[in-house]
Amino acid sequence: MAPDEAEVTFAKGLEDVIVAKSRITYIDGEIGKLVYLGIPIEEMAKHSTFEETAYLLGHGALPTRQQLDEYSRTLVANRALPDTLLNMMKLFPPTALPMDVLRTAVSALGMLDPNPKDSSKEQNQLRSARLIAQFPTIVAAFARMRQGLEPVAPRADLGHAANFLYMLFGQAPDEFTARVMDVALVLHADHEMNASTFASLVTGSTLSDMYSAITTGVGTLKGPLHGGANEAVVAMLQEIGTVENAEPYVLNALKTKKKIMGFGHRVYHAYDPRARIFKEYARELSQRKNDMTWFQIGEKIEEVMIREVGRKGIFPNVDFYSGIVYHHLGIPTDLYTPIFAIARVAGWIAHVMEYWEDNRIFRPASIYTGPKEAPYVPIEKR
Ligand code: CMC
Repeated sequence: MAPDEAEVTFAKGLEDVIVAKSRITYIDGEIGKLVYLGIPIEEMAKHSTFEETAYLLGHGALPTRQQLDEYSRTLVANRALPDTLLNMMKLFPPTALPMDVLRTAVSALGMLDPNPKDSSKEQNQLRSARLIAQFPTIVAAFARMRQGLEPVAPRADLGHAANFLYMLFGQAPDEFTARVMDVALVLHADHEMNASTFASLVTGSTLSDMYSAITTGVGTLKGPLHGGANEAVVAMLQEIGTVENAEPYVLNALKTKKKIMGFGHRVYHAYDPRARIFKEYARELSQRKNDMTWFQIGEKIEEVMIREVGRKGIFPNVDFYSGIVYHHLGIPTDLYTPIFAIARVAGWIAHVMEYWEDNRIFRPASIYTGPKEAPYVPIEKR
């Protein structure tokens, strides 16, 4: 029987509710610590690549040189999209939101799986590699198609991040640019039990299939309270326009209970360690581009926010400075959240595969607030 409101307390938004065990990612939100399989995110950002990070999350240990080479070769071999999907994508309206395109394309890949009914671990590992490899290709292909350009075929000699930029711009990035993109993917690859990971697990827990679980993840990431915040930050920076406008904008937003995008977090009550890393790249790129305006507006917003609401545990999160980084890489704003997805797909898959090792369907409860009994009134008497 569903509980009565008076009898129970419930956790709105599932705050602090533990829904699974996981060995993949750990966060200490009080001190702003994030580790992948025990390895601090700062170390990952300094030394790792997206390919190595995806392997770590999916396999539970850092790869040997040979394992990494083999895994990278598998990703490279799976980058191209099936012709059927490319032809479908040509029918998509050029005005479509790239996150909607990504969600639809991932769903379509499910129809194109050669063995859709085989849910063995081996098949799911193949699917994992294909999905991780194909996310950047989908995003880059649509970004070109909507401009009336032909998609650029992937290049086997480039790493995952560099190849994405190559497919997007038709030109291979320099070493620094490729590294910035790689670090961005490492930083976004996983984040414990966030909304999109949980949503993927819910779909996976019904023993549906990998594509359905990941499609759910993409749809959930899209929202401005989650992955969509990086695009909302840029809209805010554009609206603010000048450093002088930043403080009154923030004070007015706080007064009117409007949220400042890129700040606050359910788990972190300290500075998000990923935001620190993005901030330094944002500073360096702004200096290199000789265009400090957005960075300075960002720093001013940060100063005012910490002064006004830092005591409530509200600090910059991963989405605050990432937008400035992508802006200086020349990436269109509506691709920022798809880039988040290009990275996070590794985390979604790792968690879904882990959950399937000891699966139980998610079926929570709710408090019924409607009438307990009501007559059925015939339509002519209503
Ligand atoms: N600006 C101003 N006040 C804020 C903000 C913010 N960005 N975030 C939280 N608060 C205040 C909120 O008004 C509330 O105050 P009060 O207790 O006085 O009513 C208190 O902090 C708690 O906020 P909440 O919305 O109940 O917290 P939550 O844990 O439900 O939500 C959040 C977390 C991330 C959705 C929220 O902080 C938010 O909406 N932030 C802006 C959107 C954003 O940047 N999202 C990206 C999150 S990080 C990457 C990711 O997960 O995708």
